[in-house]
Amino acid sequence: MFKLEIIVREEKLEEVIEALGEVGYPGLSIASIEGRGQQKGLQEQFRGRAYTIPFLPKRKIEVLIRENDLERVKETVIKAARTGEPGDGKIFITPVVDVIRIRTGETGESAI
Ligand SMILES: Nc1ncnc2c1ncn2[C@@H]1O[C@H](COP(=O)(O)OP(=O)(O)OP(=O)(O)O)[C@@H](O)[C@H]1O
Ligand SMILES: [Mg+2]
Repeated sequence: MFKLEIIVREEKLEEVIEALGEVGYPGLSIASIEGRGQQKGLQEQFRGRAYTIPFLPKRKIEVLIRENDLERVKETVIKAARTGEPGDGKIFITPVVDVIRIRTGETGESAI
């Protein structure tokens, strides 16, 4: 199993969630976050002065997936989240040791 932390543009959140549902992952968590990437936020000009917005609002989706679905889910997320402009976001992937469905006691992939 893997945990995907998917950081996306706010306006792409719904599209990514819908796409995850279509490939078999309706269960997920979301959060509103602030962050920055290699451009270190945003530099703007206003009335001839330069301003820096140090952190930009983004959305984060956390979803646990089965090992065999990794490639398909990655492709699905990229297709839904990508605009081609800076700030499209990232996918962080980490291995997961176990999952427990509290109601039933199921564990592992069948608990996802
Ligand atoms: N190295 C990182 N570690 C943790 N979070 C990151 C990292 N890079 C980016 N993020 C998070 O992802 C968000 C989007 O990053 P972004 O897509 O701008 O990455 P980037 O590396 O600057 O790529 P691009 O050049 O396409 O903009 C950031 O606002 C931040 O929340
Ligand atoms: Mg960036």
